[in-house]
Amino acid sequence: MTSLEIRHATLADVPGITAVHCSTVTVWRDPVTRAAVPYAQLDVFGRWRNGGPWMSVEMARVHVASLLRAGQIILVAVWGDEIVGEAEYYFTGEPGDYAALHLSILYVHAAWQGRGIGRALLEAGVELARERGLRALTTQPDAEAQGFYARQGFGVWRVQHELQLEADASGPLPQLAPVTSAAATPAPELALRIGRYQCGPQGWEALWPALELPGWSDLRRAVWRGDLASGPAVLGLCEQLSDSTQADAYVWLKPEAPLALALTALRALAAAQGFRAVDVLLAAADLPAVRPHFRLEFQTRLDLWRRQL
Ligand SMILES: CC(C)(COP(=O)(O)OP(=O)(O)OC[C@H]1O[C@@H](n2cnc3c(N)ncnc32)[C@H](O)[C@@H]1OP(=O)(O)O)[C@@H](O)C(=O)NCCC(=O)NCCS
Repeated sequence: MTSLEIRHATLADVPGITAVHCSTVTVWRDPVTRAAVPYAQLDVFGRWRNGGPWMSVEMARVHVASLLRAGQIILVAVWGDEIVGEAEYYFTGEPGDYAALHLSILYVHAAWQGRGIGRALLEAGVELARERGLRALTTQPDAEAQGFYARQGFGVWRVQHELQLEADASGPLPQLAPVTSAAATPAPELALRIGRYQCGPQGWEALWPALELPGWSDLRRAVWRGDLASGPAVLGLCEQLSDSTQADAYVWLKPEAPLALALTALRALAAAQGFRAVDVLLAAADLPAVRPHFRLEFQTRLDLWRRQL
């Protein structure tokens, strides 16, 4: 009798993974005009803009290969010969409270939702976390999926606000050294304190043009590391796809280090890179300490959820 199998993915699973993600899209849109268009009319970049690298087998292959090469985990749910769901888990390698297995992606094929497949992919992640001695799972759920995660024992862990900070060319540039290699990852005592869009490793990946797509790999990116007066720091800026005058910021600091010096450094570095403004996604708990010193324009709220094991 056919039964549901959860197993580690290989490159051979890519067409099935792409089919799972594409099944959840009801209308494909032209990335520039936003008009509805058939999938066949979109090029690889256009497909990517409709939901990420999973939306074409070409880019999904690059994405899956780079995750597997980095030792991260991709699970597939298989029913008979069909891939019916996919989950991507990251070992963030961060210290203290940030140590967790992060569920970055969980998708069940539209025709297979509501049959326990999402829960099975999640429970497999719980087992993985326990095997590695991790005591928490984290995720950043879309609004529509929050009910699912609440049922699986997750709750809001880190309320995060994305705020915009003007670049500032008037201050001195911080004494930090440029980092030019993706191999030089932040030290394990540092946590991604600003720019936790999904988690530590994804923040690092966003700073390197890993996907060789015109439009994506052409974005201006820069990374610096060194010591601020508040301690060791790694700072990164990445041009936003939608507005070349703005950058997203990624900042690794010790878990308890204050943020103000890093924000001042970001403003100066952003100005030196020719950006007008920089978006900083930070914990609401960090806000009271920085709000008196900066003009911060609220953009959006993006919470991280956590399940304690
Ligand atoms: C969200 C998703 C992963 C859930 O997977 P699924 O296989 O459909 O869910 P399951 O059948 O395993 O559901 C497990 C339980 O959660 C409940 N549930 C599922 N989706 C839910 C939702 N969106 N809101 C509230 N509860 C939900 C189910 O009713 C079930 O309840 P039970 O414990 O009483 O049986 C899946 O619907 C999906 O891929 N959605 C589209 C993509 C997406 O939103 N991914 C998450 C991005 S963060």
